[in-house]
Amino acid sequence: MSIHLGDTAPNFTANTTEGTIDFHAYLGESWGVLFSHPADFTPVCTTELGRTALLKEEFAKRNVKVLAVSVDPLDKHIQWVKDINETQHCTVDFPIIADEDRKVATLYDMIHPNASATFTVRSLFIIGTDKKIKLFITYPASTGRNFVEVLRVIDSLQLTANHSVATPADWKEGENVIVVPAISTEDAILKFPKGVDVIKPYLRYTPQPE
Ligand code: BEZ
Repeated sequence: MSIHLGDTAPNFTANTTEGTIDFHAYLGESWGVLFSHPADFTPVCTTELGRTALLKEEFAKRNVKVLAVSVDPLDKHIQWVKDINETQHCTVDFPIIADEDRKVATLYDMIHPNASATFTVRSLFIIGTDKKIKLFITYPASTGRNFVEVLRVIDSLQLTANHSVATPADWKEGENVIVVPAISTEDAILKFPKGVDVIKPYLRYTPQPE
């Protein structure tokens, strides 16, 4: 099945390192990051899961729950987490799905047969509080994801959800944002009291809303 932006994130129940999880119930009122890893006891994945654990406060600040997926079994995950904690100086305390039957990997199209017939690629889905897919990225097994970028896109998505603004190329937290085309300049001036800088009728900046 292929997944598109705006689709409802498919729900599932799965065995994880934190017990059995119903995905939608796990998310509750939070945003979600669901991300796949090719295999346990592999170097790039070890750094990615460690980095995620170290960013716990950043995800919490943004009301985001994370959930990792790997097609290896639970006992292997539990052993691997010990290594991750040791080598990455962290405490992994988010769930890792033991997706032995590839149920979640198949549901989210995480296996790309021309890359590997058995392992998942590095897919990452960001899910909003409405359970809709807001963004996905797919990296090959050999390239670890940039978690600063993951936090940056969450910030951008949350600004759009809360304030009807978009973010320009290379935007970073605290920089000016763009008024979405659906809002007239007249309405934008009322909506954004910090000011609206009209460069072109379709290109209007405003300071980042709080
Ligand atoms: C890794 O996670 O380190 C990895 C997995 C498959 C291929 C290359 C790297």
